[in-house]
Amino acid sequence: MNEVANPSLPYEHHVLICTNLRPDGRPSCSSSGAHELLSAAKRKLAEMGKPETLRANASGCLGRLGRCEHGPVMVIYPANLWFSCKTPQQVDRIIEQHLLCPD
Ligand code: FES
Repeated sequence: MNEVANPSLPYEHHVLICTNLRPDGRPSCSSSGAHELLSAAKRKLAEMGKPETLRANASGCLGRLGRCEHGPVMVIYPANLWFSCKTPQQVDRIIEQHLLCPD
């Protein structure tokens, strides 16, 4: 079993993209292309070559500030940065800006 130095922060950057599909037909991240954006985030992080410290995962509804209609919603922790993304290119730019050059 591998030990994690700080179990509260297992990754340097953790990207979550909501892939929730609202069953009642209201707009939601899954119906707005979230799975394509999650694939883009995983691909971009893999290109960065630090799989032990960078991770992208699907999440359920992040339901913050009524953003479901404006999704897909992406959040980066631990920086607590929230975005509404529409294209894989936007995901690439956000990751480059905030994970490669965080200042
Ligand atoms: S459905 Fe994605 S944030 Fe609510």
